[in-house]
Amino acid sequence: MRTKILMVCLGNICRSPLAEGILKSKLDKEVFDVDSAGTASYHIGKRPDNRSISTAKRYGIDISQQRCRQFTHKDFSNFDVIFAMDKSNYENIIALAKSKDEKAKVSLLLQRSNSVNIEVPDPYYGGEDGFEEIFHLLDSACNIIAQDLMYNK
Ligand code: 4NP
Repeated sequence: MRTKILMVCLGNICRSPLAEGILKSKLDKEVFDVDSAGTASYHIGKRPDNRSISTAKRYGIDISQQRCRQFTHKDFSNFDVIFAMDKSNYENIIALAKSKDEKAKVSLLLQRSNSVNIEVPDPYYGGEDGFEEIFHLLDSACNIIAQDLMYNK
């Protein structure tokens, strides 16, 4: 059985597309599916923010083919694990859950990291530096998550 992982932020153009690309780069495509979505509908159909695309590219990851979509209730049945970038994303996802099992699929991406941050800061209104910073937060978190996922396989 394939394991399906969903990364969720607000707009699905900055943080979760990067998280999707980074985690995908660490996992076997034959075994794991990784996708991303946003809790908001602002950018549906758009490609990731250019700053996310260029940051990923610097590290050899191509996220330019991703297209923004909104998180829906169906994602609870389509995915095994759902990671929220910040507490507000987490609350918005939990508000759509209809059962304990659905709620149990959701956690904060940085929960298991040793990072001082528990949330991935929203880089949208900041400069390029913010994208570089979140790349490293996401990368360390995804190293731990990839290890967990492969170990539990
Ligand atoms: P993201 O960043 O949630 O990491 O994709 C944002 C993107 C767009 C907006 C907010 C955050 N926006 O307000 O349009």
